[in-house]
Amino acid sequence: MRPTTHGMANDAVPGVFRRTGGLQWHARVLRCWRLHQPFRDEIAEFLGAWRPDSTGLILVGASAGWFLPSRFLSHFSRLTIIELDRSAPFFFRLRHGAELRRAGSSAEWIFGDFVSRLPPLLRERGGTPALFCNVLGQLGLERTDYERWLAALPEMLDGHPWASFHDRFSTVIEGGFDSATGDRGFPNPRGFVSELPLDSVRLQQLGHQGVWIDHGTGELLPAGVPRRYLPWRITPKRFHWVEAGMVS
Ligand SMILES: C[S@@+](CC[C@H](N)C(=O)[O-])C[C@H]1O[C@@H](n2cnc3c(N)ncnc32)[C@H](O)[C@@H]1O
Repeated sequence: MRPTTHGMANDAVPGVFRRTGGLQWHARVLRCWRLHQPFRDEIAEFLGAWRPDSTGLILVGASAGWFLPSRFLSHFSRLTIIELDRSAPFFFRLRHGAELRRAGSSAEWIFGDFVSRLPPLLRERGGTPALFCNVLGQLGLERTDYERWLAALPEMLDGHPWASFHDRFSTVIEGGFDSATGDRGFPNPRGFVSELPLDSVRLQQLGHQGVWIDHGTGELLPAGVPRRYLPWRITPKRFHWVEAGMVS
């Protein structure tokens, strides 16, 4: 059995070199900054439309907030961030420190696996909104029992406004992009909105072929919640469809 951080047999252990984050993640983001800009802009627009009525916000997997606009964060006076990456606060301060200080917002870090850290926090801070920052589609890289936790999440969040953007499908681009739309075959960076989850049938209808990884997030957003699908070229050779939605 692996060591635990909070009494859960499968809990991921915080560090600076994890599969889903850490120093290699910061290096990749800085290296691919221009490549990521269209996706960063779309996330900013998505979050700009989310204004939960609260002075506090719980952020899960925020890392350095490379994809989160300072302006959005500074609407909240108290940010509580659950992370596995112990190097994240340093980069977060570099990116957002000045604007958060100006706005009088504070950031408190909780290092640990959100699977065990989030439930007590939600109970303690009834009604506080939660934002999952591109983390839920990666839970399978950190935990073997991820399907159980993803299935339990909507009920765990009952009574809390929440929003998430997360990997839905991803693939390796072999010799060019295979979609029918957009410049050089790349989908329109604005993506599309759908009432139905993106599934393998829809992927084919979009003109995608080849091998795609399903990140297990198809059932996360409750039925009827509009889903925004955003294309993200994470590296020159890797492509993700990211699903974004908000639940009030
Ligand atoms: C893709 S990065 C998110 C990037 C972030 N949205 C940004 O703007 O830079 C995923 C982050 O989630 C964190 N993470 C992954 N699994 C986690 C878990 N089970 N509990 C807490 N944090 C987790 C990783 O440490 C990593 O920093």
